[in-house]
Amino acid sequence: MKLLRTKQEVHRHLGISRINNTTIGFVPTMGALHDGHLDLVKKAKENSDVIIVSIFVNPTQFNNQKDFENYPKTLNKDLDLLDKTGVDFVFVPSNQEIYPSIPSLIIDFGAIDKVLEGAFRPGHFNGVGIVVSKLLNIVKPHKTFFGQKDLQQVAIIKRLVEDLSFDTEIVIIPTVREADGLAMSSRNLRLDDEQRKIAPIIYEALTFAKDELLAGNNWFGTRGKVEQMFKEEPRFRLEYFELISSDRFELLESLKGTSNIAICTAAYLGEIRLIDNISIFD
Ligand code: PAF
Repeated sequence: MKLLRTKQEVHRHLGISRINNTTIGFVPTMGALHDGHLDLVKKAKENSDVIIVSIFVNPTQFNNQKDFENYPKTLNKDLDLLDKTGVDFVFVPSNQEIYPSIPSLIIDFGAIDKVLEGAFRPGHFNGVGIVVSKLLNIVKPHKTFFGQKDLQQVAIIKRLVEDLSFDTEIVIIPTVREADGLAMSSRNLRLDDEQRKIAPIIYEALTFAKDELLAGNNWFGTRGKVEQMFKEEPRFRLEYFELISSDRFELLESLKGTSNIAICTAAYLGEIRLIDNISIFD
């Protein structure tokens, strides 16, 4: 596995792969890797010849400076894991390499960015859009792999790739969960033992709400019951729990009218903000 630090190094090494007509699979990450990331790498390996993973904690997508500073950084462990998983290249750029100047571009994602993560983390998707565009321009992968856990990010990136004609296929991989249902996330590393014990309530609430809806119960009654579940565990602060169309990210009030429906949620455990989602029809 080769560690690349600059755009020029990426161009030089992947240029050779391109000449040899190999398929380049790309997994962009912010590090603090877990089995969910390794699953993306595994899927990338099954679907491409050369695998490159990037590790860059992107400052422009954090609307909260403290969250950025506290984001777990485990580079040596990450490199070790990627080496064992059989990755060909890891791109670990400096901040200066990605942002030689502060970007002035503002991306308007329209309605998708007005709800949920977009509403509660203003500027977040602008930062994601900018860094993903930069990484796609640097790496020029044939296929790029993202996790379904960040469902709204997936919708935003699909829009970005379509609107700007990036020549890459976006491949979405299902969320990987711990045995108790907690979605794998780098932020889980920050949970203390007590918080970790109760964190699976998020997934329990999602599966409960899905079952209620599929049994014919109405959305507002279901959400009310979920809000009550969270109130009974005061260490949680529920931020949102919404029924949405997973392609357009419109808020829904029932299962009628579209088949791409998910429930998305965000909740705080202490200072740690966790997100998760569940699709209704698969
Ligand atoms: O999902 C993430 O880890 C990040 O948002 C991404 C796509 C690597 C951009 O910084």
